[in-house]
Amino acid sequence: MVNESAEQPVKDTARNIGPVILLGPPGAGKGTQSKRIVDHYGVPWISTGELLRDHVARGTALGLEAKAIMARGELVPDGLMYGIVASRLREVDCHNGFVLDGFPRTPAQAGWLDAFLAKEVFENKADHTPGNLQNSPPIVIQLLVDYNQLLLRIAGRRSCPTCGRTYNIHTQPPRVDELCDVEGARLLTREDDREEVISERLAIYERQTKPVADYYRSQNRLIAIDADRPMEAVTAQIFSVIDGNSRGKG
Ligand code: AP5
Repeated sequence: MVNESAEQPVKDTARNIGPVILLGPPGAGKGTQSKRIVDHYGVPWISTGELLRDHVARGTALGLEAKAIMARGELVPDGLMYGIVASRLREVDCHNGFVLDGFPRTPAQAGWLDAFLAKEVFENKADHTPGNLQNSPPIVIQLLVDYNQLLLRIAGRRSCPTCGRTYNIHTQPPRVDELCDVEGARLLTREDDREEVISERLAIYERQTKPVADYYRSQNRLIAIDADRPMEAVTAQIFSVIDGNSRGKG
């Protein structure tokens, strides 16, 4: 489920789509759409939320530091994020592209990512196995969703502790109440999906993460799409954006 610990090989089927960044508030569908991009194009999904939750579950030093911050719905300090993102992006399976979900989340993280990609990915290929990311600036897709819809989506989200499959009691319920269709395991509610934390996460998004969209918009790199539609419609538009950008890259 989580993608940090073991070095992952490049999938034979991986298409060269370059970096894709999904921006959007909590509940916008970043994780949902990331998984569909991964299934379709074969590139890895890098969710900083999942990476952090994995550290928390394993009780690492980073996890111990991040746990309380995440439970309050606040952002983990930028300095702690750079290490885990850098080591993940250096893995070989990222060489044809990757989907970043939950990063960058502050303008400082966006600036750091640009510098990291320029230094370690686009220019310095000598240290890596051949990848094709040169001249592939990130495709930055912003998912726009109405505030009340976000509340409904987050409050209804459940996930299977065994296979990671996600459900929504309002829009995508399991066949049997609170049980995973595949594993039969009792579904979990994320620690930070509690009602009292949700509004804090959304407020922090407005304050600290929305400026990231401004950062990319000012460079004409932002593609905003209406994600307040059925999942399939959102997926179709994302694929068409990616295909339009990766045409000719093989
Ligand atoms: P993270 O795990 O990144 O959470 P988030 O950004 O709050 O996003 P969510 O996972 O809540 O929502 P999503 O957009 O993925 O929606 P989903 O697809 O699940 O971060 C968690 C915490 O980690 C942060 O608060 C912070 O503390 C820390 N953190 C992470 N990255 C960090 C960073 N870079 N810097 C600092 N701290 C960081 O969908 C939601 C629900 O809606 C699901 O039930 C789904 O089934 C449903 N749904 C999705 N799409 C649709 C649709 N089109 N129609 C109907 N229902 C839909």
